[in-house]
Amino acid sequence: MERIRIIDSKDHVGEIVQIGGWIANKRSSGKIAFLQLRDGSAFFQGVVVKTEVPEEVFNTAKGLSQETSVIVTGEIREDSRSKFGYEIGIQNIEVVGESNDYPITPKEHGTDFLMDNRHLWLRSSRQHAIMQIRNEIIRATYEFYNSRGFTKIDPPILTSSAPEGTTELFSTDYFGQDAYLSQTGQLYAEAAAMAFGKVFSFGPTFRAEKSKTRRHLTEFWMIEPEMAFVKHEESLQVQEQYVAFLVQSVLDNCDYALDVLGRDKELLKIYTELPFPRISYDDAIKLLNENDFDDITWGDDFGSPHETFIANHFSKPVFITNYPKGIKPFYMPSPEDRDDVVICADLIAPEGYGEIIGGSERAIGYDNMKQRLEENNLSLDEYGWYLDLNKYGPVPHSGFGLGLERAVTWISGIEHIREASPFPRMLHRIYP
Ligand code: 4AD
Repeated sequence: MERIRIIDSKDHVGEIVQIGGWIANKRSSGKIAFLQLRDGSAFFQGVVVKTEVPEEVFNTAKGLSQETSVIVTGEIREDSRSKFGYEIGIQNIEVVGESNDYPITPKEHGTDFLMDNRHLWLRSSRQHAIMQIRNEIIRATYEFYNSRGFTKIDPPILTSSAPEGTTELFSTDYFGQDAYLSQTGQLYAEAAAMAFGKVFSFGPTFRAEKSKTRRHLTEFWMIEPEMAFVKHEESLQVQEQYVAFLVQSVLDNCDYALDVLGRDKELLKIYTELPFPRISYDDAIKLLNENDFDDITWGDDFGSPHETFIANHFSKPVFITNYPKGIKPFYMPSPEDRDDVVICADLIAPEGYGEIIGGSERAIGYDNMKQRLEENNLSLDEYGWYLDLNKYGPVPHSGFGLGLERAVTWISGIEHIREASPFPRMLHRIYP
C-alpha cells in the first residue's frame, strides 16, 4: 500500500493509502470520530465511522489525545465542505507515539506562553502557513537571481569589522582577538561582484538592537545582491522586479496558506504592479510636515509612524530616495550636484510594515574611500582589503539588502515579525 503525504491527496482519490501524521484535534460522538490530521505537508480530516470499522479501531480513534502520532490507513475522498477539498475515510489506526497533556490546546494562549513553547507552537496550522510562505520566498529568491545570471556567494558570519555601526554588534572572542557576528554581508558581496559581476548573498545577520518592536529581530536573514557596472536607477528596477516576483510567487504557490491566514489576495495583486512609486527624502519630509507631523525635520531618520503615513499615502511599496548623508553609512556616495544627501533608497512596504529593503550606489575611488573610512573611525588595517577594491579596476556598482522576515511578515499579513522566523531571537528571547 502506498504511503502518501496529505498535500498529494488530489492524486489519490478513491485509493486506499497510508499516512503518517499527528492528531491536531479531534471531535467524536457515539457513532463517528472526526480526526484533524497533520503530516507536515498539510492538514485535513480523517473520518472514522463506528459501523464501518472493527470495534477496537473506533475505540482507538475515540481515545486519541492531541499530538499522538499515528499511521492511518484509509480511502482518500473529495470533501467539498472543507477548504482543503479532501479527507480520508479511515479503516485502521496504528498508534506510533503517545502524547500526554499537550500544552497548546485549541483555546487562546498568551504570546509569552506560545513563545516559550515555540518548538510546539510551530505545529499549528497558522505557523505552518507562515513557514510555507517563508519557504516560497526563499525558493523564489533563488529562482529570481539564478535565472538572471547572479552567482550566490556566502560572506563570512564571523568578522573583524562592523560596517553598519558599532553599537549594534554582538562580539565574541576569536582566539584572543575581538570578532563580531556579521551585521551585513555587503562589503564581501562587493568584493565578490568585482570577481563575478552579479552576485547575491543570502544568510543570517545579527544586530544587537535594543528595540522591542514588531519589526525587529536580533538574528535575521538577509538577501544582498550586488551588481558591478550598475548605477542606482538600474538597481531600483531590479529591486521592484524582485519584490513583485516574490509577491507573485506566493500568490501562485501558496494559495491555501494565504487563505489560512486570511490574507487579502486582491491587495497582494496590486503589489505586483510596476513601477513602484518613488518620493525623495526632501519631499517625504514636506509631505509629513504638511500633514501635521511636527516631530520631524530635515536630517532626522523616519520613525515607524512616519513610514506608515508615507506608505499609506501611496498604498503600494514606495521607494524613499536620497536620504541625508548624516544618517546613512560611510559607503554611500553623494550625487554630483549635492553633498548633503546620498544616492540611496529604502523600500517601504504598505500597510504599516515598514522598511523591507535598504540599498544604495556604492562610493568608489581610492582617496575618496580612504577619507570616508578615516572620517568614520574605521581602521585601515581592518578595511585594507575593502580599500583594495578601489586600487584594482574599481567600477560603479550598486546593491541592496532585503530582510527575509520583514518580507514574510508583510506578504503573510501577520502582526509581528516573531512569527516569521521558526525560532526567533529578540531582545530578552533566546529560548527555545
Ligand atoms: O537597511 P539595512 O541596515 O541595510 C544593510 O544592511 C545594507 N548593508 C544592505 C545592502 O545594501 N547590502 O538592512 C537591510 C534590511 C532592512 O531593510 C530590513 O528589511 C532588514 O534588513 N533588517 C531587519 N530585519 C529584522 N530585524 C532587524 N533588526 C533588521 N534590521 C534590518
